[in-house]
Amino acid sequence: MSDIEVRRVGAAQLLRFNRPLKKNALTGAMYGTLADAIAEGERDPKVAAHAFIGSGGEFTAGNDIGEFLAAASDDGTTLRNVLRFVTLLPQVEKPMLAGVEGLAVGVGTTLLFHCDLVYATANARFQTPFVDLGLVPEAASSLLMPRRLGYGRAFEMLVLGSTFPAERMREAGLVNAVVGADDLEVTLLKAAAALAAKPPGALAAARRLMRGDIREVSRRIEDEAAIFVKALRSPEAREAFQAFVEKRPPDFSKLAGDA
Ligand code: COA
Repeated sequence: MSDIEVRRVGAAQLLRFNRPLKKNALTGAMYGTLADAIAEGERDPKVAAHAFIGSGGEFTAGNDIGEFLAAASDDGTTLRNVLRFVTLLPQVEKPMLAGVEGLAVGVGTTLLFHCDLVYATANARFQTPFVDLGLVPEAASSLLMPRRLGYGRAFEMLVLGSTFPAERMREAGLVNAVVGADDLEVTLLKAAAALAAKPPGALAAARRLMRGDIREVSRRIEDEAAIFVKALRSPEAREAFQAFVEKRPPDFSKLAGDA
């Protein structure tokens, strides 16, 4: 079974993060598969919506940190697929849906700000520990998150690194509804079927109007990526990644003043 399972179910293209032993952490290859599948689904008239879902009781633990460590010293190959995926997100024309159970870390949360409908289970936990990792927000989250959640909540999440439970994300407006774990996939498929039954021209036009200027979002993704790639090579990030791999707390004290 592939680390990303791509399946057509009714009107939905179901994209499942399927690497449960690593909490569905995303590798460059997985981002590549996701980007290819989305591009293919966009072309296929039988697909009305793309739907992201996890496996093994988790959505995703975000980017694979071992790959971040490798990316800090390679020629950019590792990051190419990550960038291909995030730059595609604002360009997607068909609705994107997500069903979040358990952990949604890093891109597992920032991806949701590009989704049109988000459902979560009561145990869902949203977290973007970019700053703790010596990194900066990505996928236009520095633009979209303050817009959707308000500046204070976005700062708490993106900079303080607080974990938001499902109910708080529902109150904040990102999560449409909290549903039972057994109902999550069915809820996504029902929503996709409801969208498939709409007049397609009106649906596409309404979505385009609601999403506003996607060039602004794309520009922010580029700006963030330029800073992110530099940060990835910083001593702070290396210490954070190394600490994760070695299963110890990071120690930034010796780096004070280096930034
Ligand atoms: N990258 C690579 N491997 C990861 C991972 C990630 N983002 N998240 C989890 N894993 C791996 C762990 O290394 C572990 O592998 P092992 O069994 O070979 O040792 C396995 O998945 C299970 O994770 P573990 O940490 O034991 O589970 P947990 O329930 O105690 O904690 C998390 C889960 C997600 C809270 C914790 O793994 C974590 O903080 N992960 C990093 C999240 C992150 O910072 N992502 C990047 C965002 S930009």
